[in-house]
Amino acid sequence: MTDARTMDDLRWPDGFLWGASTAAHQVEGGNVNSDWWQREHGHLPGPPVAEPSGDAADSFHRYPEDMRLLADAGLNSYRFSIEWARIEPEEGFVSRAAIAHYLRMVDTARSLGLEPFVTLHHFTNPVWFARDGGWLTDASVDRFARFVEAALPVIADVELVCTINEPNMVSVLADPAVGFPSVGLPPGVPAVTDRLIAAHRRATELVRGAGARAGWSVATQAYQPEPGAESVAAAYGRSREDVFLDAAEGDDWIGVQAYTRTRIGPDGPLPIRDDAERTLTGWEYYPPAVGEGIRNAWARAGVPVYVTENGIATADDARRIDYTRGALEAVARTIADGVDVRGYLHWSALDNYEWGSFAPTFGLIAWDPDTFERRPKPSLAWLGEVARTGLVH
Ligand code: BGC
Repeated sequence: MTDARTMDDLRWPDGFLWGASTAAHQVEGGNVNSDWWQREHGHLPGPPVAEPSGDAADSFHRYPEDMRLLADAGLNSYRFSIEWARIEPEEGFVSRAAIAHYLRMVDTARSLGLEPFVTLHHFTNPVWFARDGGWLTDASVDRFARFVEAALPVIADVELVCTINEPNMVSVLADPAVGFPSVGLPPGVPAVTDRLIAAHRRATELVRGAGARAGWSVATQAYQPEPGAESVAAAYGRSREDVFLDAAEGDDWIGVQAYTRTRIGPDGPLPIRDDAERTLTGWEYYPPAVGEGIRNAWARAGVPVYVTENGIATADDARRIDYTRGALEAVARTIADGVDVRGYLHWSALDNYEWGSFAPTFGLIAWDPDTFERRPKPSLAWLGEVARTGLVH
Protein backbone atom coordinates (compact mmCIF):
# COMPACT_ATOMS: atom_id res chain seq x y z
CA MET A 1 0.00 0.00 0.00
CA THR A 2 1.15 3.49 -0.75
CA ASP A 3 1.32 5.91 2.16
CA ALA A 4 -1.85 8.03 1.87
CA ARG A 5 -0.33 10.91 3.85
CA THR A 6 2.40 11.35 1.27
CA MET A 7 -0.15 11.15 -1.51
CA ASP A 8 -2.27 13.90 0.03
CA ASP A 9 0.64 16.24 -0.53
CA LEU A 10 0.46 15.91 -4.30
CA ARG A 11 -0.55 19.19 -5.89
CA TRP A 12 -2.18 19.67 -9.27
CA PRO A 13 -2.33 23.06 -10.99
CA ASP A 14 -5.69 24.82 -11.42
CA GLY A 15 -7.39 23.81 -14.63
CA PHE A 16 -5.43 20.55 -14.81
CA LEU A 17 -6.88 18.23 -17.44
CA TRP A 18 -7.76 14.73 -16.30
CA GLY A 19 -8.74 12.54 -19.18
CA ALA A 20 -8.42 9.46 -21.29
CA SER A 21 -7.28 8.99 -24.87
CA THR A 22 -8.19 6.88 -27.89
CA ALA A 23 -7.25 6.76 -31.57
CA ALA A 24 -9.81 6.43 -34.35
CA HIS A 25 -8.54 3.23 -35.97
CA GLN A 26 -8.20 1.50 -32.63
CA VAL A 27 -11.78 2.02 -31.47
CA GLU A 28 -14.08 3.15 -34.30
CA GLY A 29 -14.32 -0.02 -36.39
CA GLY A 30 -14.91 -0.28 -40.13
CA ASN A 31 -12.08 2.02 -41.12
CA VAL A 32 -11.92 0.37 -44.54
CA ASN A 33 -10.10 3.10 -46.45
CA SER A 34 -7.06 3.21 -44.18
CA ASP A 35 -3.69 1.68 -44.94
CA TRP A 36 -3.89 -0.36 -41.74
CA TRP A 37 -7.17 -2.00 -42.76
CA GLN A 38 -5.61 -2.88 -46.11
CA ARG A 39 -2.55 -4.34 -44.38
CA GLU A 40 -4.74 -6.31 -41.99
CA HIS A 41 -6.29 -7.99 -45.02
CA GLY A 42 -3.04 -8.54 -46.90
CA HIS A 43 -3.68 -5.88 -49.55
CA LEU A 44 -0.64 -3.81 -48.58
CA PRO A 45 2.83 -5.06 -47.68
CA GLY A 46 4.03 -5.07 -44.10
CA PRO A 47 4.75 -7.40 -41.23
CA PRO A 48 2.03 -10.00 -40.56
CA VAL A 49 -0.98 -8.88 -38.54
CA ALA A 50 -2.42 -11.37 -36.02
CA GLU A 51 -6.05 -10.26 -36.29
CA PRO A 52 -7.90 -7.48 -38.14
CA SER A 53 -9.51 -4.44 -36.49
CA GLY A 54 -12.98 -5.27 -37.85
CA ASP A 55 -15.66 -3.45 -35.89
CA ALA A 56 -13.11 -2.63 -33.16
CA ALA A 57 -15.10 -1.19 -30.20
CA ASP A 58 -17.74 0.32 -32.53
CA SER A 59 -16.96 3.65 -30.97
CA PHE A 60 -17.78 5.28 -34.31
CA HIS A 61 -21.41 4.82 -33.27
CA ARG A 62 -21.05 4.52 -29.51
CA TYR A 63 -18.85 7.55 -28.77
CA PRO A 64 -21.62 9.41 -26.88
CA GLU A 65 -21.85 6.54 -24.39
CA ASP A 66 -18.07 6.28 -24.14
CA MET A 67 -17.71 9.97 -23.44
CA ARG A 68 -20.56 9.92 -20.94
CA LEU A 69 -18.86 7.15 -18.95
CA LEU A 70 -15.68 9.23 -18.74
CA ALA A 71 -17.56 12.37 -17.72
CA ASP A 72 -19.76 10.55 -15.18
CA ALA A 73 -16.64 9.08 -13.57
CA GLY A 74 -15.27 12.59 -13.02
CA LEU A 75 -12.84 13.11 -15.88
CA ASN A 76 -12.83 16.47 -17.65
CA SER A 77 -11.13 15.71 -20.97
CA TYR A 78 -11.24 13.25 -23.84
CA ARG A 79 -8.54 12.90 -26.48
CA PHE A 80 -9.56 11.29 -29.74
CA SER A 81 -8.31 11.33 -33.31
CA ILE A 82 -10.03 12.12 -36.55
CA GLU A 83 -9.49 9.66 -39.37
CA TRP A 84 -7.91 11.07 -42.53
CA ALA A 85 -9.10 7.99 -44.48
CA ARG A 86 -12.71 8.86 -43.65
CA ILE A 87 -12.35 12.58 -44.31
CA GLU A 88 -10.43 12.15 -47.57
CA PRO A 89 -11.13 8.56 -48.72
CA GLU A 90 -9.95 9.41 -52.23
CA GLU A 91 -7.34 12.05 -52.94
CA GLY A 92 -9.09 15.40 -53.27
CA PHE A 93 -12.56 14.19 -52.20
CA VAL A 94 -13.49 15.60 -48.81
CA SER A 95 -16.39 13.89 -47.08
CA ARG A 96 -18.67 16.51 -45.57
CA ALA A 97 -20.42 13.70 -43.70
CA ALA A 98 -17.16 12.67 -42.01
CA ILE A 99 -16.43 16.27 -41.05
CA ALA A 100 -19.94 16.53 -39.59
CA HIS A 101 -19.37 13.31 -37.65
CA TYR A 102 -16.21 14.58 -35.96
CA LEU A 103 -17.84 17.94 -35.30
CA ARG A 104 -20.61 16.08 -33.47
CA MET A 105 -17.93 14.36 -31.39
CA VAL A 106 -16.48 17.73 -30.40
CA ASP A 107 -19.94 19.04 -29.55
CA THR A 108 -20.78 15.93 -27.54
CA ALA A 109 -17.56 16.22 -25.53
CA ARG A 110 -18.30 19.88 -24.78
CA SER A 111 -21.88 19.17 -23.79
CA LEU A 112 -20.63 16.59 -21.27
CA GLY A 113 -18.03 18.94 -19.81
CA LEU A 114 -15.12 17.14 -21.45
CA GLU A 115 -12.39 19.28 -23.00
CA PRO A 116 -11.95 17.83 -26.49
CA PHE A 117 -8.28 17.15 -27.29
CA VAL A 118 -8.17 16.39 -31.01
CA THR A 119 -5.42 14.47 -32.81
CA LEU A 120 -5.25 15.01 -36.57
CA HIS A 121 -3.05 12.03 -37.41
CA HIS A 122 -2.69 8.88 -35.30
CA PHE A 123 -0.61 6.38 -37.32
CA THR A 124 -3.15 5.53 -40.04
CA ASN A 125 -3.19 7.01 -43.54
CA PRO A 126 -5.67 6.80 -46.40
CA VAL A 127 -4.81 3.88 -48.64
CA TRP A 128 -4.27 6.17 -51.65
CA PHE A 129 -1.63 8.07 -49.65
CA ALA A 130 0.11 4.86 -48.60
CA ARG A 131 0.04 3.36 -52.10
CA ASP A 132 1.72 6.47 -53.42
CA GLY A 133 4.65 6.20 -51.01
CA GLY A 134 3.19 7.55 -47.77
CA TRP A 135 5.74 9.54 -45.81
CA LEU A 136 8.53 8.19 -48.03
CA THR A 137 7.64 10.75 -50.69
CA ASP A 138 8.06 14.53 -50.68
CA ALA A 139 4.42 15.00 -51.73
CA SER A 140 3.38 13.80 -48.25
CA VAL A 141 3.86 17.23 -46.68
CA ASP A 142 1.50 19.05 -49.07
CA ARG A 143 -0.98 16.19 -48.93
CA PHE A 144 -1.11 16.28 -45.15
CA ALA A 145 -1.40 20.07 -45.08
CA ARG A 146 -4.30 19.90 -47.55
CA PHE A 147 -6.06 17.37 -45.32
CA VAL A 148 -5.54 19.55 -42.25
CA GLU A 149 -6.99 22.54 -44.08
CA ALA A 150 -10.03 20.47 -45.07
CA ALA A 151 -10.47 19.31 -41.47
CA LEU A 152 -10.33 22.80 -39.92
CA PRO A 153 -14.13 23.01 -39.45
CA VAL A 154 -13.83 20.16 -36.92
CA ILE A 155 -11.58 22.22 -34.63
CA ALA A 156 -13.48 25.50 -34.77
CA ASP A 157 -14.43 25.06 -31.10
CA VAL A 158 -11.36 23.11 -29.98
CA GLU A 159 -8.51 24.54 -27.95
CA LEU A 160 -5.97 21.70 -27.99
CA VAL A 161 -4.90 20.04 -31.22
CA CYS A 162 -2.24 17.37 -31.65
CA THR A 163 -0.98 17.52 -35.23
CA ILE A 164 0.76 14.13 -35.42
CA ASN A 165 0.76 11.35 -32.83
CA GLU A 166 4.18 9.89 -32.10
CA PRO A 167 6.02 11.14 -35.18
CA ASN A 168 9.04 9.28 -33.83
CA MET A 169 7.23 5.95 -34.12
CA VAL A 170 6.04 6.92 -37.62
CA SER A 171 9.66 7.58 -38.57
CA VAL A 172 11.20 4.46 -37.01
CA LEU A 173 8.53 2.28 -38.66
CA ALA A 174 8.61 4.08 -42.03
CA ASP A 175 10.90 1.71 -43.89
CA PRO A 176 9.05 -1.60 -44.35
CA ALA A 177 12.36 -3.29 -45.18
CA VAL A 178 13.68 -2.62 -41.67
CA GLY A 179 12.34 -5.12 -39.13
CA PHE A 180 11.99 -4.57 -35.42
CA PRO A 181 15.11 -5.49 -33.43
CA SER A 182 14.65 -7.85 -30.47
CA VAL A 183 15.42 -4.97 -28.11
CA GLY A 184 14.94 -1.26 -28.68
CA LEU A 185 13.72 0.43 -31.86
CA PRO A 186 15.08 0.88 -35.38
CA PRO A 187 16.57 4.35 -35.94
CA GLY A 188 14.39 7.13 -37.33
CA VAL A 189 14.49 7.52 -41.13
CA PRO A 190 16.01 11.01 -41.60
CA ALA A 191 14.03 12.00 -44.71
CA VAL A 192 10.78 10.91 -43.06
CA THR A 193 11.66 12.80 -39.89
CA ASP A 194 12.29 15.94 -41.94
CA ARG A 195 8.94 15.59 -43.72
CA LEU A 196 7.08 14.97 -40.47
CA ILE A 197 8.62 18.10 -38.96
CA ALA A 198 7.71 20.08 -42.09
CA ALA A 199 4.17 18.65 -42.01
CA HIS A 200 3.89 19.54 -38.32
CA ARG A 201 4.95 23.14 -39.01
CA ARG A 202 2.40 23.52 -41.82
CA ALA A 203 -0.33 22.01 -39.64
CA THR A 204 0.65 24.20 -36.69
CA GLU A 205 0.22 27.33 -38.80
CA LEU A 206 -3.23 26.20 -39.94
CA VAL A 207 -4.33 25.14 -36.45
CA ARG A 208 -3.19 28.43 -34.93
CA GLY A 209 -4.97 30.29 -37.70
CA ALA A 210 -8.13 28.52 -36.56
CA GLY A 211 -7.57 29.78 -33.01
CA ALA A 212 -6.40 26.54 -31.38
CA ARG A 213 -3.16 25.60 -29.62
CA ALA A 214 -0.97 23.21 -31.58
CA GLY A 215 1.57 20.63 -30.50
CA TRP A 216 2.53 17.05 -31.13
CA SER A 217 2.92 14.00 -28.91
CA VAL A 218 6.17 12.07 -28.73
CA ALA A 219 6.67 8.48 -27.52
CA THR A 220 9.24 8.94 -24.77
CA GLN A 221 11.26 5.84 -23.96
CA ALA A 222 13.06 6.84 -20.74
CA TYR A 223 16.49 5.90 -22.06
CA GLN A 224 18.60 5.07 -19.01
CA PRO A 225 22.35 4.78 -19.48
CA GLU A 226 24.29 2.25 -17.46
CA PRO A 227 27.33 3.90 -15.87
CA GLY A 228 29.72 4.86 -18.67
CA ALA A 229 27.10 4.52 -21.43
CA GLU A 230 25.88 8.13 -21.28
CA SER A 231 27.10 9.09 -24.75
CA VAL A 232 25.77 5.84 -26.24
CA ALA A 233 22.34 6.61 -24.75
CA ALA A 234 22.44 10.19 -26.03
CA ALA A 235 23.31 9.04 -29.54
CA TYR A 236 20.66 6.31 -29.38
CA GLY A 237 17.91 8.68 -28.28
CA ARG A 238 18.69 11.30 -30.90
CA SER A 239 16.85 10.03 -34.02
CA ARG A 240 14.32 8.02 -32.01
CA GLU A 241 13.08 10.74 -29.65
CA ASP A 242 15.09 13.90 -29.05
CA VAL A 243 14.93 15.37 -32.54
CA PHE A 244 11.13 15.40 -32.23
CA LEU A 245 11.18 17.03 -28.80
CA ASP A 246 13.64 19.67 -30.02
CA ALA A 247 11.33 20.40 -32.96
CA ALA A 248 8.56 21.26 -30.49
CA GLU A 249 10.41 24.36 -29.27
CA GLY A 250 8.11 27.29 -29.96
CA ASP A 251 4.99 25.09 -30.11
CA ASP A 252 2.04 25.78 -27.84
CA TRP A 253 2.59 22.55 -25.89
CA ILE A 254 4.36 19.20 -26.06
CA GLY A 255 2.73 15.81 -25.49
CA VAL A 256 4.49 13.03 -23.57
CA GLN A 257 3.46 9.40 -24.10
CA ALA A 258 5.21 7.04 -21.74
CA TYR A 259 4.83 3.38 -20.88
CA THR A 260 8.18 1.87 -19.99
CA ARG A 261 11.95 2.44 -19.96
CA THR A 262 14.88 1.26 -22.06
CA ARG A 263 18.21 0.70 -20.33
CA ILE A 264 21.23 1.41 -22.50
CA GLY A 265 24.58 -0.32 -22.09
CA PRO A 266 27.88 0.31 -23.86
CA ASP A 267 26.62 -1.58 -26.95
CA GLY A 268 23.12 -0.15 -27.02
CA PRO A 269 19.75 -1.19 -25.60
CA LEU A 270 19.72 -3.97 -23.01
CA PRO A 271 17.13 -6.74 -22.72
CA ILE A 272 14.62 -6.52 -19.89
CA ARG A 273 15.95 -8.21 -16.77
CA ASP A 274 14.61 -11.72 -16.23
CA ASP A 275 13.22 -10.84 -12.80
CA ALA A 276 11.33 -7.75 -14.00
CA GLU A 277 7.53 -7.79 -14.16
CA ARG A 278 6.23 -7.56 -17.72
CA THR A 279 2.93 -6.26 -19.02
CA LEU A 280 0.77 -7.88 -21.73
CA THR A 281 2.76 -6.04 -24.40
CA GLY A 282 5.94 -7.62 -23.02
CA TRP A 283 7.19 -4.27 -21.75
CA GLU A 284 8.79 -3.80 -18.34
CA TYR A 285 6.36 -2.63 -15.65
CA TYR A 286 7.93 0.73 -14.85
CA PRO A 287 5.53 3.48 -13.68
CA PRO A 288 8.18 6.25 -13.21
CA ALA A 289 8.83 6.30 -16.99
CA VAL A 290 6.37 9.15 -17.41
CA GLY A 291 8.35 11.43 -15.09
CA GLU A 292 11.50 10.87 -17.13
CA GLY A 293 9.60 11.58 -20.35
CA ILE A 294 8.21 14.81 -18.92
CA ARG A 295 11.63 16.00 -17.79
CA ASN A 296 13.25 15.29 -21.15
CA ALA A 297 10.40 16.99 -23.03
CA TRP A 298 10.50 20.04 -20.77
CA ALA A 299 14.29 20.35 -20.99
CA ARG A 300 14.25 20.17 -24.79
CA ALA A 301 11.01 21.83 -25.89
CA GLY A 302 10.58 24.23 -22.96
CA VAL A 303 6.82 24.52 -23.51
CA PRO A 304 3.82 23.39 -21.41
CA VAL A 305 3.59 19.62 -21.13
CA TYR A 306 0.54 17.38 -21.36
CA VAL A 307 0.79 13.67 -20.69
CA THR A 308 -1.33 12.64 -23.67
CA GLU A 309 -0.87 8.90 -23.12
CA ASN A 310 0.23 6.73 -20.21
CA GLY A 311 -1.04 3.33 -19.19
CA ILE A 312 -0.53 -0.41 -19.02
CA ALA A 313 -1.72 -3.47 -20.92
CA THR A 314 -2.95 -5.83 -18.23
CA ALA A 315 -5.83 -8.20 -17.52
CA ASP A 316 -5.48 -7.31 -13.82
CA ASP A 317 -7.25 -4.01 -13.26
CA ALA A 318 -5.82 -3.68 -9.74
CA ARG A 319 -2.38 -3.65 -11.33
CA ARG A 320 -3.57 -0.89 -13.69
CA ILE A 321 -4.46 1.19 -10.64
CA ASP A 322 -1.06 0.46 -9.05
CA TYR A 323 0.72 1.47 -12.24
CA THR A 324 -1.27 4.66 -12.61
CA ARG A 325 -0.74 5.58 -8.97
CA GLY A 326 3.01 5.21 -9.45
CA ALA A 327 2.89 7.21 -12.66
CA LEU A 328 0.89 10.03 -11.05
CA GLU A 329 3.39 10.23 -8.20
CA ALA A 330 6.12 10.70 -10.80
CA VAL A 331 4.06 13.37 -12.61
CA ALA A 332 3.45 15.19 -9.32
CA ARG A 333 7.18 15.21 -8.57
CA THR A 334 7.88 16.98 -11.85
CA ILE A 335 5.22 19.57 -11.01
CA ALA A 336 6.73 20.07 -7.55
CA ASP A 337 10.07 20.65 -9.30
CA GLY A 338 8.55 23.47 -11.34
CA VAL A 339 7.69 21.75 -14.62
CA ASP A 340 4.61 23.24 -16.29
CA VAL A 341 2.51 20.08 -16.62
CA ARG A 342 -1.10 20.81 -17.54
CA GLY A 343 -2.83 17.49 -17.92
CA TYR A 344 -2.79 13.72 -17.61
CA LEU A 345 -4.73 11.70 -20.18
CA HIS A 346 -4.69 7.97 -19.60
CA TRP A 347 -4.24 5.41 -22.36
CA SER A 348 -6.76 4.21 -22.91
CA ALA A 349 -10.41 5.03 -22.43
CA LEU A 350 -11.37 1.66 -23.94
CA ASP A 351 -9.83 -1.72 -24.52
CA ASN A 352 -8.89 -1.36 -28.15
CA TYR A 353 -7.19 -2.64 -31.26
CA GLU A 354 -3.55 -2.68 -30.25
CA TRP A 355 -2.12 -2.54 -33.79
CA GLY A 356 -2.54 -6.18 -34.70
CA SER A 357 -4.36 -7.68 -31.74
CA PHE A 358 -7.10 -7.02 -29.21
CA ALA A 359 -5.26 -9.06 -26.56
CA PRO A 360 -3.24 -6.33 -24.80
CA THR A 361 -6.01 -4.58 -22.89
CA PHE A 362 -5.15 -0.97 -21.98
CA GLY A 363 -8.70 0.25 -21.27
CA LEU A 364 -10.46 1.83 -18.33
CA ILE A 365 -13.57 0.42 -20.00
CA ALA A 366 -14.02 -3.12 -21.33
CA TRP A 367 -16.80 -4.16 -23.73
CA ASP A 368 -18.60 -7.31 -24.73
CA PRO A 369 -17.18 -8.61 -28.02
CA ASP A 370 -20.64 -9.65 -29.28
CA THR A 371 -22.88 -6.84 -28.11
CA PHE A 372 -20.32 -4.04 -27.57
CA GLU A 373 -21.95 -3.41 -24.20
CA ARG A 374 -19.62 -1.21 -22.16
CA ARG A 375 -18.19 -2.52 -18.89
CA PRO A 376 -16.36 0.16 -16.96
CA LYS A 377 -13.52 -1.19 -14.84
CA PRO A 378 -12.76 -0.14 -11.24
CA SER A 379 -9.77 1.82 -12.60
CA LEU A 380 -12.15 4.25 -14.32
CA ALA A 381 -13.89 5.07 -11.04
CA TRP A 382 -10.50 5.29 -9.35
CA LEU A 383 -9.06 7.76 -11.89
CA GLY A 384 -12.32 9.74 -11.85
CA GLU A 385 -12.02 10.12 -8.10
CA VAL A 386 -8.44 11.33 -8.45
CA ALA A 387 -9.72 13.86 -10.98
CA ARG A 388 -12.49 15.08 -8.68
CA THR A 389 -10.48 15.21 -5.45
CA GLY A 390 -6.86 15.56 -6.53
CA LEU A 391 -6.06 12.80 -4.05
CA VAL A 392 -4.11 9.78 -5.25
CA HIS A 393 -4.85 6.90 -2.89
C1 BGC B 1 0.20 4.74 -29.38
C2 BGC B 1 -1.10 3.99 -29.21
C3 BGC B 1 -0.81 2.60 -28.67
C4 BGC B 1 -0.14 2.73 -27.33
C5 BGC B 1 0.19 1.42 -26.65
C6 BGC B 1 1.23 4.47 -28.34
O1 BGC B 1 2.41 4.12 -28.99
O2 BGC B 1 -0.04 6.10 -29.62
O3 BGC B 1 -1.78 3.96 -30.42
O4 BGC B 1 -1.97 1.82 -28.59
O5 BGC B 1 1.06 3.44 -27.46
O6 BGC B 1 1.05 0.66 -27.43
